[in-house]
Amino acid sequence: MKHSDIIPFYGGEHPEMFEIERRCMDRQGKVIEALDQLLPNGMVLDVGAGNGFTAEQLQSNHRTIVAIEPDPLMIDSTKAIIWSKGTAQDIPFHISTFDAAYSTWAFFFEGVADLEKGLDEMKRIVKEDGLLVIVDNYGEDEFCSLSTNPIASNVDYWVNKGFEYQIIHTSFSFDSVEEARKLLSFYFGENAATINKTEFEYKVAMFIKKNTKE
Ligand SMILES: C[S@@+](CC[C@H](N)C(=O)[O-])C[C@H]1O[C@@H](n2cnc3c(N)ncnc32)[C@H](O)[C@@H]1O
Repeated sequence: MKHSDIIPFYGGEHPEMFEIERRCMDRQGKVIEALDQLLPNGMVLDVGAGNGFTAEQLQSNHRTIVAIEPDPLMIDSTKAIIWSKGTAQDIPFHISTFDAAYSTWAFFFEGVADLEKGLDEMKRIVKEDGLLVIVDNYGEDEFCSLSTNPIASNVDYWVNKGFEYQIIHTSFSFDSVEEARKLLSFYFGENAATINKTEFEYKVAMFIKKNTKE
Protein backbone atom coordinates (compact mmCIF):
# COMPACT_ATOMS: atom_id res chain seq x y z
CA MET A 1 0.00 0.00 0.00
CA LYS A 2 1.56 3.30 -1.12
CA HIS A 3 0.97 6.33 1.08
CA SER A 4 0.07 8.37 -2.03
CA ASP A 5 -2.81 5.97 -2.71
CA ILE A 6 -4.58 7.11 0.47
CA ILE A 7 -6.98 10.03 0.16
CA PRO A 8 -6.47 12.24 3.23
CA PHE A 9 -9.42 12.11 5.60
CA TYR A 10 -9.89 14.15 8.77
CA GLY A 11 -11.49 11.42 10.90
CA GLY A 12 -8.32 9.87 12.32
CA GLU A 13 -6.91 13.22 13.52
CA HIS A 14 -10.29 14.61 14.61
CA PRO A 15 -12.34 11.70 15.96
CA GLU A 16 -14.61 14.12 17.86
CA MET A 17 -15.69 15.67 14.53
CA PHE A 18 -16.20 12.28 12.92
CA GLU A 19 -18.33 11.26 15.91
CA ILE A 20 -20.65 14.23 15.20
CA GLU A 21 -20.72 13.38 11.48
CA ARG A 22 -21.67 9.75 11.99
CA ARG A 23 -24.25 10.49 14.69
CA CYS A 24 -25.98 13.37 12.87
CA MET A 25 -25.80 12.27 9.22
CA ASP A 26 -28.89 10.25 8.29
CA ARG A 27 -30.02 9.69 11.89
CA GLN A 28 -33.07 7.92 10.51
CA GLY A 29 -30.76 5.16 9.25
CA LYS A 30 -32.27 5.21 5.75
CA VAL A 31 -28.94 4.47 4.05
CA ILE A 32 -28.22 1.49 6.30
CA GLU A 33 -31.77 0.22 5.76
CA ALA A 34 -31.46 0.52 1.96
CA LEU A 35 -28.08 -1.26 1.97
CA ASP A 36 -29.41 -3.96 4.27
CA GLN A 37 -32.29 -4.68 1.87
CA LEU A 38 -30.06 -4.61 -1.18
CA LEU A 39 -27.02 -6.60 -0.11
CA PRO A 40 -27.06 -10.40 -0.29
CA ASN A 41 -26.19 -12.78 2.50
CA GLY A 42 -22.73 -14.32 2.41
CA MET A 43 -19.42 -12.47 2.21
CA VAL A 44 -19.59 -8.71 1.66
CA LEU A 45 -16.71 -6.23 1.41
CA ASP A 46 -16.87 -2.64 2.74
CA VAL A 47 -14.29 -0.54 0.85
CA GLY A 48 -12.94 2.41 2.84
CA ALA A 49 -14.91 1.41 5.91
CA GLY A 50 -13.80 4.28 8.15
CA ASN A 51 -14.41 3.25 11.76
CA GLY A 52 -16.76 0.43 10.75
CA PHE A 53 -19.98 2.35 11.55
CA THR A 54 -21.83 0.96 8.51
CA ALA A 55 -20.16 -2.45 8.42
CA GLU A 56 -21.14 -3.21 12.01
CA GLN A 57 -24.80 -2.52 11.33
CA LEU A 58 -24.92 -4.60 8.16
CA GLN A 59 -23.31 -7.66 9.71
CA SER A 60 -25.70 -10.48 10.64
CA ASN A 61 -25.80 -14.22 11.26
CA HIS A 62 -26.15 -14.66 7.50
CA ARG A 63 -23.86 -11.90 6.26
CA THR A 64 -20.17 -11.47 7.07
CA ILE A 65 -18.79 -7.99 6.45
CA VAL A 66 -15.08 -7.61 5.79
CA ALA A 67 -13.95 -4.00 6.20
CA ILE A 68 -10.90 -2.64 4.37
CA GLU A 69 -9.50 0.68 5.49
CA PRO A 70 -6.05 2.18 4.81
CA ASP A 71 -5.84 4.63 7.75
CA PRO A 72 -4.84 2.83 10.97
CA LEU A 73 -6.21 5.76 12.98
CA MET A 74 -9.68 5.10 11.60
CA ILE A 75 -9.82 1.38 12.32
CA ASP A 76 -11.93 0.65 15.41
CA SER A 77 -10.97 -2.87 16.32
CA THR A 78 -13.49 -2.97 19.18
CA LYS A 79 -16.16 -3.43 16.49
CA ALA A 80 -17.01 -7.06 15.84
CA ILE A 81 -16.18 -7.12 12.14
CA ILE A 82 -13.24 -8.50 10.20
CA TRP A 83 -10.71 -5.75 9.45
CA SER A 84 -8.12 -5.65 6.71
CA LYS A 85 -5.71 -2.84 5.91
CA GLY A 86 -5.92 -1.91 2.23
CA THR A 87 -6.98 0.51 -0.45
CA ALA A 88 -9.65 0.49 -3.13
CA GLN A 89 -6.89 0.47 -5.80
CA ASP A 90 -5.31 -2.71 -4.44
CA ILE A 91 -7.83 -4.86 -2.58
CA PRO A 92 -5.98 -7.57 -0.65
CA PHE A 93 -8.28 -10.48 -1.61
CA HIS A 94 -8.43 -13.10 -4.32
CA ILE A 95 -10.58 -12.96 -7.41
CA SER A 96 -14.32 -13.73 -6.82
CA THR A 97 -14.08 -13.85 -3.01
CA PHE A 98 -17.20 -11.80 -2.24
CA ASP A 99 -20.93 -11.95 -2.97
CA ALA A 100 -21.02 -8.14 -2.99
CA ALA A 101 -18.90 -5.08 -2.31
CA TYR A 102 -19.98 -1.58 -1.34
CA SER A 103 -18.33 1.71 -0.53
CA THR A 104 -19.93 4.57 1.38
CA TRP A 105 -18.50 8.06 0.84
CA ALA A 106 -15.04 6.61 0.32
CA PHE A 107 -12.51 6.72 -2.52
CA PHE A 108 -15.01 6.95 -5.42
CA PHE A 109 -14.80 10.74 -5.78
CA GLU A 110 -14.37 11.93 -9.37
CA GLY A 111 -11.36 14.18 -9.93
CA VAL A 112 -9.81 13.00 -6.65
CA ALA A 113 -9.16 9.31 -7.19
CA ASP A 114 -8.61 6.89 -10.06
CA LEU A 115 -12.17 5.58 -10.10
CA GLU A 116 -11.46 3.05 -12.86
CA LYS A 117 -8.78 1.38 -10.77
CA GLY A 118 -11.10 1.08 -7.77
CA LEU A 119 -13.95 -0.19 -9.89
CA ASP A 120 -11.75 -2.80 -11.62
CA GLU A 121 -10.67 -4.04 -8.20
CA MET A 122 -14.25 -4.27 -6.92
CA LYS A 123 -15.23 -6.20 -10.06
CA ARG A 124 -12.27 -8.54 -9.62
CA ILE A 125 -12.99 -9.54 -6.02
CA VAL A 126 -16.79 -9.86 -6.42
CA LYS A 127 -18.26 -13.03 -7.94
CA GLU A 128 -20.01 -13.01 -11.32
CA ASP A 129 -23.56 -11.64 -10.80
CA GLY A 130 -22.62 -10.36 -7.34
CA LEU A 131 -23.51 -6.79 -6.44
CA LEU A 132 -21.46 -3.56 -6.60
CA VAL A 133 -22.79 -0.57 -4.66
CA ILE A 134 -21.37 2.94 -4.36
CA VAL A 135 -22.91 5.47 -1.96
CA ASP A 136 -22.16 9.19 -2.22
CA ASN A 137 -23.69 12.66 -2.08
CA TYR A 138 -26.41 13.14 -4.69
CA GLY A 139 -26.28 16.93 -4.55
CA GLU A 140 -29.11 19.41 -5.25
CA ASP A 141 -29.80 19.74 -1.54
CA GLU A 142 -29.28 22.10 1.38
CA PHE A 143 -26.21 20.26 2.66
CA CYS A 144 -24.21 20.31 -0.61
CA SER A 145 -25.22 23.91 -1.34
CA LEU A 146 -23.22 24.97 1.74
CA SER A 147 -20.03 23.95 -0.07
CA THR A 148 -18.24 26.29 -2.47
CA ASN A 149 -16.55 23.25 -4.04
CA PRO A 150 -18.43 20.60 -6.01
CA ILE A 151 -19.09 17.69 -3.64
CA ALA A 152 -21.91 15.91 -5.46
CA SER A 153 -21.31 12.65 -7.30
CA ASN A 154 -21.38 12.59 -11.10
CA VAL A 155 -24.51 10.57 -11.87
CA ASP A 156 -23.69 10.43 -15.61
CA TYR A 157 -20.35 8.77 -14.89
CA TRP A 158 -22.03 5.91 -13.02
CA VAL A 159 -24.94 5.56 -15.46
CA ASN A 160 -22.44 5.32 -18.33
CA LYS A 161 -20.75 2.51 -16.41
CA GLY A 162 -24.06 0.63 -16.35
CA PHE A 163 -25.12 1.48 -12.79
CA GLU A 164 -28.71 2.16 -11.81
CA TYR A 165 -29.32 4.54 -8.97
CA GLN A 166 -31.69 5.40 -6.14
CA ILE A 167 -31.92 8.71 -4.32
CA ILE A 168 -32.37 8.50 -0.57
CA HIS A 169 -33.96 11.62 0.92
CA THR A 170 -32.56 12.11 4.39
CA SER A 171 -30.99 14.85 6.52
CA PHE A 172 -28.22 15.99 8.79
CA SER A 173 -29.88 16.45 12.14
CA PHE A 174 -27.80 18.05 14.91
CA ASP A 175 -28.46 18.20 18.65
CA SER A 176 -27.93 21.97 18.74
CA VAL A 177 -27.13 24.95 16.53
CA GLU A 178 -23.65 25.03 18.13
CA GLU A 179 -23.05 21.46 17.08
CA ALA A 180 -24.28 22.18 13.54
CA ARG A 181 -21.96 25.19 13.29
CA LYS A 182 -19.05 23.21 14.69
CA LEU A 183 -19.18 20.44 12.09
CA LEU A 184 -20.45 22.41 9.11
CA SER A 185 -17.94 25.24 9.49
CA PHE A 186 -15.22 22.62 9.89
CA TYR A 187 -16.31 21.27 6.49
CA PHE A 188 -17.31 24.43 4.70
CA GLY A 189 -15.63 27.33 6.53
CA GLU A 190 -17.22 30.79 6.67
CA ASN A 191 -20.26 29.68 4.68
CA ALA A 192 -21.55 27.73 7.66
CA ALA A 193 -20.35 29.93 10.51
CA THR A 194 -23.65 31.81 10.80
CA ILE A 195 -26.15 29.00 10.29
CA ASN A 196 -28.98 29.11 12.75
CA LYS A 197 -30.74 25.75 12.67
CA THR A 198 -30.20 22.06 13.34
CA GLU A 199 -31.83 20.27 10.39
CA PHE A 200 -30.38 20.17 6.84
CA GLU A 201 -31.91 18.42 3.85
CA TYR A 202 -29.50 15.81 2.45
CA LYS A 203 -29.86 13.58 -0.61
CA VAL A 204 -27.78 10.44 -0.93
CA ALA A 205 -27.16 8.58 -4.19
CA MET A 206 -26.86 4.82 -4.21
CA PHE A 207 -25.35 3.45 -7.44
CA ILE A 208 -26.03 -0.24 -8.01
CA LYS A 209 -24.78 -2.76 -10.59
CA LYS A 210 -24.68 -6.51 -11.02
CA ASN A 211 -21.09 -7.63 -11.55
CA THR A 212 -20.25 -8.87 -15.02
CA LYS A 213 -16.82 -10.21 -15.87
CA GLU A 214 -16.78 -9.33 -19.56
C1 LIG B 1 -15.60 9.84 4.41
S1 LIG B 1 -14.79 8.47 5.14
C2 LIG B 1 -16.09 7.29 5.03
C3 LIG B 1 -15.92 6.15 5.96
C4 LIG B 1 -17.04 5.12 5.95
N1 LIG B 1 -17.17 4.47 4.68
C5 LIG B 1 -18.33 5.72 6.39
O1 LIG B 1 -19.31 5.74 5.61
O2 LIG B 1 -18.40 6.15 7.54
C6 LIG B 1 -13.65 8.00 3.86
C7 LIG B 1 -12.75 6.83 4.24
O3 LIG B 1 -12.03 6.40 3.09
C8 LIG B 1 -10.73 6.04 3.50
N2 LIG B 1 -9.81 6.05 2.32
C9 LIG B 1 -8.87 6.97 1.99
N3 LIG B 1 -8.19 6.57 0.91
C10 LIG B 1 -8.73 5.38 0.52
C11 LIG B 1 -8.42 4.47 -0.52
N4 LIG B 1 -7.48 4.72 -1.40
N5 LIG B 1 -9.13 3.32 -0.58
C12 LIG B 1 -10.11 3.05 0.32
N6 LIG B 1 -10.44 3.89 1.34
C13 LIG B 1 -9.76 5.04 1.44
C14 LIG B 1 -10.39 7.09 4.54
O4 LIG B 1 -9.28 6.71 5.33
C15 LIG B 1 -11.70 7.19 5.29
O5 LIG B 1 -11.77 6.29 6.36
